[in-house]
Amino acid sequence: MRWRSGWVLMSAAAVAFAVGCRQKMQSSVDPAGPQAARIEHLFWAIFWLTLIVTIIVLAVLTTGVFKSRVPGRAQPEPILETPEEDRRATRVVVASVVITVVILFVLLAVSVSTGRTVAHVDTNSPVSIQVTGHQWWWEITYQSSNPNETVTTANEIHVPVGVPVVINTASRDVIHSFWAPNLQGKRDLIPGYTTAIWFQADREGTFRGQCAEFCGLQHAHMGFLIIAEPKDKFEHWMAQQRKAAEPPMDDLAKRGQQIFMSGPCVMCHTIRGTMAGSRVGPDLTHLASRSTIAAATLPNTRGNLGGWIIDSQRIKPGNRMPQNQFSGDDLQALISYLETLK
Ligand code: CUA
Repeated sequence: MRWRSGWVLMSAAAVAFAVGCRQKMQSSVDPAGPQAARIEHLFWAIFWLTLIVTIIVLAVLTTGVFKSRVPGRAQPEPILETPEEDRRATRVVVASVVITVVILFVLLAVSVSTGRTVAHVDTNSPVSIQVTGHQWWWEITYQSSNPNETVTTANEIHVPVGVPVVINTASRDVIHSFWAPNLQGKRDLIPGYTTAIWFQADREGTFRGQCAEFCGLQHAHMGFLIIAEPKDKFEHWMAQQRKAAEPPMDDLAKRGQQIFMSGPCVMCHTIRGTMAGSRVGPDLTHLASRSTIAAATLPNTRGNLGGWIIDSQRIKPGNRMPQNQFSGDDLQALISYLETLK
């Protein structure tokens, strides 16, 4: 019975591993750039080496157990060694210790070499992006020497394919950790301390990342997306993001804007080109150009937006957005306005 449940558990773990590997949006074993590829090589090297060691140890252990059994007796016989056998056993133990130490040193050397390689930037014109962790979302800023051209967005990072990207990290509250496994290793975001990490995406795609340091109640819902796209598409996106929000055209959206500017929304959010300029919550200037809301937790749909505005505490309890009371008509107008923020 115990054997059977063991097999069931092992099969379930194998299936979970296989499914996890297939889910390519967030995977350490599906690298999309040179840094993640180095880390993947290191992972497999350690995996195979430790697997071989485990198999050898289990084989030796099993042999020892069966050898010490005497047929017809329940208890194993005590082993009385001759001096020759004793010397041989000592040699085996010493050899095993030496081999173990050599293996550990090889792993150490390979790890240090990988760490140095993935930290090394070989360009002097990277795309530079500021990532600031908040409980529980990511503020993304593309700095520009011209302040009017600085772009601030949230949770979705667009990068050009084949160009090195430097991520400068900071935190507004507690320690978070920036981790996009398809592209690079983890980097902690520590309050009052800025660090930099760099990566390069070698193919197009949308890669999911995740906060990797426990940072409170909604740590598990602190995701982000990295959208790697061809350079011209990226430039087009940047040009669009630099623009201020277009004034709404239709009456419903116009009313939605009035509700936004006269209600609680304006206390926390920025919409460039309007009087909304608070930095407590995410910048909403181009909210409708993002594919998700609530830190890559929900698809950016009309229904999800409405649910989030009215009762975000039900979706992400403890987040800083309060519950809001709007009549059905006001909510529809508000969402219609938000949907114009392309
Ligand atoms: Cu932020 Cu965990």
